[in-house]
Amino acid sequence: MRDGSPGTVYLKDYRPSDFMITRTELYFDLHDESVVVSSRLHLQRSHSSQRDAPLRLHGEELELVNLALDGTQLHEGDYWFEGDVLVVERLPDECVLDCTTQIKPQENTSLSGLYRSRGLYCTQCEAEGFRRITYYLDRPDVMSVFCVTVEADSDSYPVLLSNGNPGETEMLDGGRHRVVWNDPHPKPSYLFALVAGDLRCVQDTFTTAGGRAVILNIHVEEKDLDKCEHAMRSLQEAMRWDEVAYGCEYDLDVFNIVAVDDFNMGAMENKGLNIFNTACVLCNPEITTDLGFQRVEAIVAHEYFHNWSGNRVTCRDWFQLSLKEGFTVFRDGQFSSDMGSSTVKRVADANLMRTAQFAEDAGPMSHPIRPESFMEINNFYTLTVYEKGAEVVRMIHTLLGAERFRAGSDLYFQRYDGQAATCENFIGAMEEGGGIDLAQFRNWYSQAGTPEVTVSDAFDEQTGCYTLTVEQSCPATPGQREKAPFVIPLAMGLLGEQGNLPLRLQGAVDENDAPCHRVLVVDQPKQSYVFEGIKRRPVPSLLRGFSAPVRLHYNYSQDDLCALMRRDGDGFARWDAAQALSIDTIVRAEQAMLAGHSPTVDDCVADAWRYLLDDPALDPAMVAEMMHLPAEDYLAELASQAAGANVDAIHQAREVVQKVLGERLQTSFRLAYDRLEIKQSYAPDASQIARRSLRNTCLSYLVSSDRKNMQLATLQYQVAGNMTDRLAALKSVAFYGEDGLRDTMLDDFYENWREESLVVNQWLQVQAMIPDDRALARVQRLMSHEAFDLRNPNKVRALVGAFTTLNPVNFHRVDASGYRLLADTVLELNTVNPQIAARLLAPLTRWRNYAGRQDLMRSELERLAAAKTLSPDVYEVVTKSLE
Ligand code: TRP
Ligand code: ZN
Repeated sequence: MRDGSPGTVYLKDYRPSDFMITRTELYFDLHDESVVVSSRLHLQRSHSSQRDAPLRLHGEELELVNLALDGTQLHEGDYWFEGDVLVVERLPDECVLDCTTQIKPQENTSLSGLYRSRGLYCTQCEAEGFRRITYYLDRPDVMSVFCVTVEADSDSYPVLLSNGNPGETEMLDGGRHRVVWNDPHPKPSYLFALVAGDLRCVQDTFTTAGGRAVILNIHVEEKDLDKCEHAMRSLQEAMRWDEVAYGCEYDLDVFNIVAVDDFNMGAMENKGLNIFNTACVLCNPEITTDLGFQRVEAIVAHEYFHNWSGNRVTCRDWFQLSLKEGFTVFRDGQFSSDMGSSTVKRVADANLMRTAQFAEDAGPMSHPIRPESFMEINNFYTLTVYEKGAEVVRMIHTLLGAERFRAGSDLYFQRYDGQAATCENFIGAMEEGGGIDLAQFRNWYSQAGTPEVTVSDAFDEQTGCYTLTVEQSCPATPGQREKAPFVIPLAMGLLGEQGNLPLRLQGAVDENDAPCHRVLVVDQPKQSYVFEGIKRRPVPSLLRGFSAPVRLHYNYSQDDLCALMRRDGDGFARWDAAQALSIDTIVRAEQAMLAGHSPTVDDCVADAWRYLLDDPALDPAMVAEMMHLPAEDYLAELASQAAGANVDAIHQAREVVQKVLGERLQTSFRLAYDRLEIKQSYAPDASQIARRSLRNTCLSYLVSSDRKNMQLATLQYQVAGNMTDRLAALKSVAFYGEDGLRDTMLDDFYENWREESLVVNQWLQVQAMIPDDRALARVQRLMSHEAFDLRNPNKVRALVGAFTTLNPVNFHRVDASGYRLLADTVLELNTVNPQIAARLLAPLTRWRNYAGRQDLMRSELERLAAAKTLSPDVYEVVTKSLE
């Protein structure tokens, strides 16, 4: 942890490096008390460099043991330190620097750099962790060929891995051994990785389209060997998919994956040696839910796709993070949609954007997908950079069409292969390869905030003209008051009585018949579109497929929404209409309750739900998504756009609507529950996942509306042959069951699964989410349970993270105890693991959204601000949210 207040880094200050490192040789001597790292850097002064510019190497928490230049040892005075930077002056244009440092991985709890996790040595270097291993030009535009030797005790550490292809292995005296790894592809230091441990491995192969035979290894602890099959199949599928979809082939002889228990994020794309959080790679039906299977598939693919979008073409500087992350999230999204249901995938993406990313974009840390400044780069691995970044790439795809997009991506990969590129380079390649002008589109890269798109319409019966008027604006965000208009692809259709109408757009030339689906390219503050030959006022189907990351406003009536929900030609639009109906129903229930009336659910909503449930021809996955009431945090986010969110009223209103629907459709829910039972053995395939999803949605409506149905949940818990059904039953009982039943089942679950850490995390999470009034005490008790560990990010997220984000009524208790719990935990984590501390803090930063709680939330932030030693990570989030 650095002391003092950290400085701000600006994109406009970017300068190329004065030195390049053409070759990097590393020797790791691993011992239990310490690790000695010897490096040999082949340095070359850059053409752009001043003749006398000194070499400035990054280092953090390192003990310098030795430093030599071209074979001659350097002494104090030949070099010095400026803060963490090691400065060496008067270097020749080409030279070799030898450096030896000593580090203590066993004391590294930040999980950045080289650290130990359950007896395993492993690294995490992105973004700036490599400087915690040795002195280096730790910036992504310095790309070097690495040769790495790892030496360790051969009994305790039989497996020694690094990037690239394996070289020579040697037995040494004293029970030690060493392995050499060569990575022929120049790479920045953030892609370096090393692993040493007692691991077993599942092996398979892949032959690339070009005929290269690749060995695929997944390295895990022995007890986890039975949890690798799905990740392996996902990897093979991803490798094939990237060849077909992007023409990208793998480029080494081996591809290694390692599973690690203590990990700050999901996984890391180190060249040829991906390192995964166990939660994102290990799975089998016994311990993993359907969602878990899908997550593993998506993350394995994501990290693999980075081999091209990230590794072969990397980022010039960290302001360009979305260049690799936005594009790669877009790519893994395309892959997931090809593997499963594209509408269900789109619904999940839109939900994540609307609940979490919109909130981030409206909060104190709001930033464009290409930020202009930061204090701590780790705070910018955000939903904005990742998810909104992917939406921006998706809009380019929409504007260009699949074929021209591919021409653009081909040009991008070919032109920048082996280089460190910028977002501007990407857009340029898309313009050139795709033959399009993206000048105004670039505003998506430079402007923060979620655009508001307001649509109004007019119908002229005489002329048969239907006019849509579209207005856009964007709220002010920190440092950006005025915004220029965006280019917004607005996918739409018009719904008439007999289905979707042909869209005869005035001014458009259609080659064939008028299509029923169009993408309007909105690029002005206000513009109108006239559709001709319309007989009756239609219902507009707008922002189909969530074609742009915007808030859309159109004044729909309940009848409009019911019509869209039942009959629109676009699956996403049908879901979106169902959501809007639910939101409307919940908001009205909330208003009724606040006014002292009893809340009701309109017949047309109940009828719509019944229609969904009773038709077995509909896709159960979509029906489940449509009947899933919007989450409380989304309702709060929407309310905060208006008068401010009242979490208690939102919670009660949502519960009441769920209960009333459950009561009124009791028979339909029960019939569907029985009809959807699966008799075959478990498979995580789209059709089974869909059935389980709807069946468990039915279960939750049934138990929330009638306690008699609790026995269905108890029975399901007992007979479940997979974790999806078991956990769904547990959740139903935990949320709606009597205390005795709930405690018995939770105890039983723990006794059965205490050896499976990932399952125990689920158990922690369910308990963190129970919305009763003993929740806070429960979470506090669990924080001292044997199953909890503050040093393990998965446990922190499962318990504290779930409590603060998924249990709003308790996090926002009026006695402020929820806020105190979070602030206390952040303070403790601030020294243990600053990255996790800063992430955990996010819910407190949304204080402006909560009417009646603002002062309470603020004062916890002020308490944090007053703490003596804040990590740069926490400091940045705290100060920016108090500004
Ligand atoms: N690049 C990783 C990804 O695939 C993100 C990541 C993993 C990361 N570990 C990290 C980022 C630690 C910062 C710090 O998205
Ligand atoms: Zn990534």
